[in-house]
Amino acid sequence: ALITLRQLLDHAAEHGYGMPAFNANNMEQFHAIMEAARETDSPVILQSSAGARKYAGEPFFRHMMHAAVEQYPEVPLCIHQDHGASPAVCLRSIQSGFTSVMMDGSLREDMKTPADYDYNARVTRTVCEMAHAGGVSVEGELGCLGSLETGEAGEEDGSGAEGKLSKEMLLTDPEEAAQFVRETHVDALAIAIGTSHGAYKFTRPPTGDILAIDRIKAIHARIPDTHLVMHGSSSVPQEWLEIINQYGGEMPETYGVPVEEIQEGIRHGVRKVNVDTDLRLAATGAVRRHLAENPSNFDPRKFLKAATAAMKDICKARYEAFGSAGQG
Ligand code: G3H
Ligand code: 13P
Ligand code: NA
Ligand code: ZN
Repeated sequence: ALITLRQLLDHAAEHGYGMPAFNANNMEQFHAIMEAARETDSPVILQSSAGARKYAGEPFFRHMMHAAVEQYPEVPLCIHQDHGASPAVCLRSIQSGFTSVMMDGSLREDMKTPADYDYNARVTRTVCEMAHAGGVSVEGELGCLGSLETGEAGEEDGSGAEGKLSKEMLLTDPEEAAQFVRETHVDALAIAIGTSHGAYKFTRPPTGDILAIDRIKAIHARIPDTHLVMHGSSSVPQEWLEIINQYGGEMPETYGVPVEEIQEGIRHGVRKVNVDTDLRLAATGAVRRHLAENPSNFDPRKFLKAATAAMKDICKARYEAFGSAGQG
């Protein structure tokens, strides 16, 4: 059944667990996310970026979401729009039937230029008024995702701020967060703590100076009733990097957000944890390995099945680690 983000996260807060929010673009990802939830008895947040809707096409994406409800009727499912660039984008997702939208007003509509507070608060409040009138939840973002090591947004394919970001932008201010929540009425707030999108988050296993879990604690202490969201929270499993490189890939040394650090965040108000890259890495490693080990195969179902199984393992591990397993 479809459920809103607010309903899910209120339950998560009441019971002290966190929800992974997985990005999906295609049928295999839908299957992996939903099968893993069925097997672990977890509710689901499945989110789609603008790029995902462009990849699948809006009608295909919309029908996959209804197919997921029909095929997994017992799994509570929130369909969330990731990183909406404008109120218009959010409105279109609401019309598509999403139960939750993110208005990312931390960046201007080009999704590259950092926005000022007033712009962010204004567009986010607009989306809250519109979405809440239709029973749809809203996530906002205050602060810019990016690396405390380099000051850069990090995403290799260009989604994220361009140029150097100051430390003030890279770490959400607790007092400003309180004002933002009060002025916009967001249901959930994404915060900046040094994580970034994609596979290249940290050049070394992160310590407190480059992954600011303490900042989560300060924000949660200031706004204990607000559901916090961690973006850029893939853990970048070293075993999948090794498999990718063993079977012809070329990925340099890199580190993600350790699951234990996310668990510490969940103990301090984090309720939604965005994960996309880990599924991409697992799918890529599984396909590379399958094709290398089965050089005569030309049936895509066989290597896509391997990809689905690998993604499903990641999903199950996150449902269990974040505590949503058993809460479906
Ligand atoms: O925001 C980042 C997510 O990983 C989505 O990425 O825009 O390539 O679909 P995407
Ligand atoms: P990752 O790139 O770490 O998986 O983050 C995904 C994300 O934040 C989507 O909004
Ligand atoms: Na989001
Ligand atoms: Zn994100």
